[in-house]
This record gives sequence, C-alpha cells and structure tokens, in this order.
Amino acid sequence: TVAEPPRHFLDLRDHTPAMLRGIVDLARSYQEFSRIGGRAHPRRPLDGCTLGIVLEKPSTRTRVSFEVAIRQMGGDAVVLSSRDMQLGRGETIADTARVLSRYVDALVLRTSGHDKLRELADYATVPVINGLTSRSHPVQILAEVLAFETHRGPVQGSRWAWIGDGNNVARSLIEGAAQFGYRLALATPEALPPCAETIDWARAQGARIETSHDKLEAARGADCVVTDTWVSMGDEDADRRFDLLSAFQVDERVMQAAGPDALFMHCLPAHRGEEVTDSVIDGPQSVVFDEAEARLHVQKALLAWALGGRDWVKLASL
Ligand code: CP
Ligand code: NVA
Repeated sequence: TVAEPPRHFLDLRDHTPAMLRGIVDLARSYQEFSRIGGRAHPRRPLDGCTLGIVLEKPSTRTRVSFEVAIRQMGGDAVVLSSRDMQLGRGETIADTARVLSRYVDALVLRTSGHDKLRELADYATVPVINGLTSRSHPVQILAEVLAFETHRGPVQGSRWAWIGDGNNVARSLIEGAAQFGYRLALATPEALPPCAETIDWARAQGARIETSHDKLEAARGADCVVTDTWVSMGDEDADRRFDLLSAFQVDERVMQAAGPDALFMHCLPAHRGEEVTDSVIDGPQSVVFDEAEARLHVQKALLAWALGGRDWVKLASL
C-alpha cells in the first residue's frame, strides 16, 4: 500500500465542507466537555506526538492554543522563533522542512509569505498547518464558526459582515462563506479591497458575497459583524491605513444597523478606539473571548484530523 500524503491544512478552500464541518463538530464536543470541567482529553489520543510551532511573527492565541491543545491531547510541543533558528540566517525552508520532519509529527508555521508555507508543506513529510500568513488565517475562521454556532445555532444561511481592511482574515472569511454556507457582505476602503480572485472562487462554489465601501450598508441585518486591526503584522504604511480606514470603525451605529441579536467578533489582538470602540468590544453583543477560547477547541480537532489517520473522528472522540 502507498502511504497517505501528510494532511496539510493550508487554506479552507483545500478541503471539503464535510471535513471542515467534522472539525467544528468535534471542537464543539471538546468545548462542551470543557464546560463540565474536562480540559485534557481523558484518553490522550495523541500520546507521544510532538508538534513544532515555528513563528516568524509574534503570536499569543495561536501559539498558546496550539501548544496547550497538543498537551491536552497527550502530546508535546516545541515552539521556535525563526530568528533563533538557522532559518533566520539562510538555511532553506526545504532543508528545514526535511530536518524538522525527522523530529516532530506535525508543524504549525506563522510566516509573512504564503509561498514559504507552501514550500514547507511541499518538503515536509509531516502535516503542516497554517498559523497565519499575510495571505490567510484559516484556523481563525473555524473558531469563528464554532463561536457563532455556540451562540446562534447553525451558521448555514446566516448573514455575516466584514468591516475594515480586505486582509488575510477577510480572505479566509470569504473562503469560509463557500465552505460553511453563510452570506457575507464586505465593506472595505476602495484602496484596500478583499481579494478578487478569492471572491470569484467563492462565488463559483455558490457563495453569496457582496462588496461595498459603506460600513452601515454591510452591517444592515447581519447576524455577525467581524473586523480586524487596521495595520496587520508586516504592513509598513500605518499612516495611510489610518486615513483610509477611519470611516470603517465598528461603533454603536454599526451594531445598531446590524440589530440587537447580532454578534461582534474580532480575531484579536484588538486596537481599541481604532477598528472597534470600547463600547462594542466590551458590550453585550461581543463574543471575542469565546472566539479566542474556541481557538483551543478547534486546534485540538485539527490536530486530531492531521495526526489521527483515517479514523480520526473515532480516535479523537470523547
Ligand atoms: N488571532 C490570532 O491569531 O492571535 P495571535 O496573533 O495572538 O496568535
Ligand atoms: N490581520 C492580522 C491578524 C492577527 C491575528 C495580522 O495579520 O497581523
């Protein structure tokens, strides 16, 4: 028999809706279990597995949630800053991938370049997971879907609004619209649009996506309003971005346009008084910390999928 290729998780569009649904459903069961006091998986299904987390940029949630997730599944993690690695002084990604594959059972990479993530996946013989690139942040969207469903039930057919920069998180949110079946209205400055190719792809899958430059129009009737920082890691034009994005702050007017039942989400870290006001992020509609918690449950399900083989759901179920 030919060995199965490693199960990489680079973007939402690479997977079937059924597989992504399976991850969120398993994560939901971990979340429910944690509510009755169970954090660690009682059977430790990833006993003996080591996760390598390679960071080229800072991280709080991604790093800690993956590290804690693998431990709660019975495994262990090594966290590496690319600055401290030979990668930082010219060792190639390909060689790094081949070497790390001999030591660890899966890799998470946070990098500026999506091409670097792809190269790591091409040369690694273990699963590679996207821990954010300047192009996308797919694991974040899985957490948003879990947080939404926890509060509002099935995401299919719900209406989402993205307000702000057409950035990496927006791109994954667009892919999620196709994969999970929510409708999406994006309001961005003309000069910071969401990725047209990704919107074309999502629409071709049947996704309902609208774009505009008006935050209130996008928010009207939304079940969930999402935003993100105006200056992402690696962006060097902060002044220009502040000028372009000042009309896209999520404030009480935006949440009023959405309606009293709308949720507010943000991948965090938040820049209060910039992309979102204190009154919204600390208000009754905000679920940003549930969303952050969801990262942990999703990472566990994702690791189970990546490392658990064909019977991953059974292996990882409680
Ligand atoms: N949302 C998110 O990925 O946060 P970190 O940058 O802290 O990992
Ligand atoms: N768009 C942000 C997300 C941080 C989690 C960034 O790339 O910096």
